[in-house]
Amino acid sequence: MLPRENVVSTQTFSFSQVQKRVAHVSGSTTGMESKLLYHLARKAEANGVVVEIGSFLGKSTIFLASGSKEAKQQKVYAIDPHAGAPVINKKFSGPTYQRFLRNIEGASVRDAVVPIKKTSDEAFRDWHRPIRLLFVDGDHAYQAVKRDLKQWGSFVVEKGVIALHDALNPGVGPPRAIVEVLLSQKDFSRFGVVDSIFYGTKMRPKTLFDWINWYFFAGAMRLTAALISFTSGSRPRKIKTAVQQKLVKTWLKRWLTGVTLAVARPF
Ligand SMILES: C[S@@+](CC[C@H](N)C(=O)[O-])C[C@H]1O[C@@H](n2cnc3c(N)ncnc32)[C@H](O)[C@@H]1O
Repeated sequence: MLPRENVVSTQTFSFSQVQKRVAHVSGSTTGMESKLLYHLARKAEANGVVVEIGSFLGKSTIFLASGSKEAKQQKVYAIDPHAGAPVINKKFSGPTYQRFLRNIEGASVRDAVVPIKKTSDEAFRDWHRPIRLLFVDGDHAYQAVKRDLKQWGSFVVEKGVIALHDALNPGVGPPRAIVEVLLSQKDFSRFGVVDSIFYGTKMRPKTLFDWINWYFFAGAMRLTAALISFTSGSRPRKIKTAVQQKLVKTWLKRWLTGVTLAVARPF
């Protein structure tokens, strides 16, 4: 029998259909990142809800909810204070809650989303549900990302997945937080990078393939965090641009995405 909270719908939500429905919604996820979120939500190797920290206008929420709906899985808890910061797109610098609601309704996923109009810290105070997929894209400051990973990560069930946006973007917290929280022990494995999303599964590496994957991605993320940290101080602008923009944000991101798509095959 299905758990009580599962969303059952007769409508189909294939990725290409969802892409059309979401075409008018602004957001920070690229086409491939959206596809990854859709497939991670649809895959459901573990049992629990989906939690999204940082929904903005609902673009990523719609992909997560559509994937979950297609697999008749549990709802997406979409946490965002919707207070209008940080500004991504100057057109949408004010409060976002009403537009968020309109967008998820327009994409036919309102029944699969539980909006929580709070910061992640406020929402965490009375949280009690097991989580099978956690997507972190809220406050990008290092301490905030680290806290989100530790607090919310403790509710992620075995074989559940954590994914973070801006994992290879210099000037924000995720690269260092990933190294310090997700890669400090071997309780996460089966990593991958798709554009700027880093994801991993809560399980110890088991097979030879898991171990190779672990050392490859842990090494790559440690290198990324070290390169960003090395060039964060008072380095000449040319060196900063060459390392942070070209090496990390362009080449490393592209190579790691290529390896992920070819070997880990998340979709
Ligand atoms: C980069 S946007 C999210 C984009 C969204 N995931 C998408 O794909 O369109 C970041 C969002 O995080 C929200 N945010 C900022 N601080 C937060 C916090 N402490 N807890 C939860 N959300 C937060 C902001 O309101 C903003 O809407």
